[in-house]
Amino acid sequence: MEKVVAQLTLDHVQIKRITKSLEHQVERYLQGETADAPDLNLIRAAVEYAVRSDQYHHPLEETLLLKLEERIADHELQHMFITIRQQHVELDNLIKNIAGYFSTTDARGLVPTGKIIPEYSKYVAMQLEHLETEDTYFYPMIEQLFSSDELEAIQARFGLRDDPLFGANTEDSFKPLCDFILAYEAQESAVQSDQLFVVE
Ligand SMILES: [Fe+2]
Ligand SMILES: [Fe+2]
Repeated sequence: MEKVVAQLTLDHVQIKRITKSLEHQVERYLQGETADAPDLNLIRAAVEYAVRSDQYHHPLEETLLLKLEERIADHELQHMFITIRQQHVELDNLIKNIAGYFSTTDARGLVPTGKIIPEYSKYVAMQLEHLETEDTYFYPMIEQLFSSDELEAIQARFGLRDDPLFGANTEDSFKPLCDFILAYEAQESAVQSDQLFVVE
């Protein structure tokens, strides 16, 4: 796989890891099953990660999408690529709005949890649908319609992403989220291996 495609694919995997680990807390709160809000420090880190990740990921995708639109004759695919680019604008606006809520406080000096959690949940749903669309229609076209030289030149222009959460050096502000994800995944894999040994 070309480096640039591998990087984009890895970005999608990492985004899904974050959303999956927080999903349970967020959904239980939204469905009124618990009055306990999800850990806002974790949500804040997830939002911050999304803002920073998309600053690299979306412009790189836009460069590829604009070139693909010129090279593809299929109107349905062209339309799909335009839709993907519109989704980038919507996702960027939504996540920046949510990030903004963390610097506002109500009369009691609290951040507006009642706004943050539903908006974060809306963002996650949009993001997951977006990733699915890209994985299905966009990414498979990259290696078909770009030469290795072209992809290397694009990769060189954007450089390699230094991942503040999953990279070699997790930044301090992302360490609690990193620990939370790893603990969640360890618990999930323990549950799955337990299920393998259940004899009916
Ligand atoms: Fe995208
Ligand atoms: Fe993407």
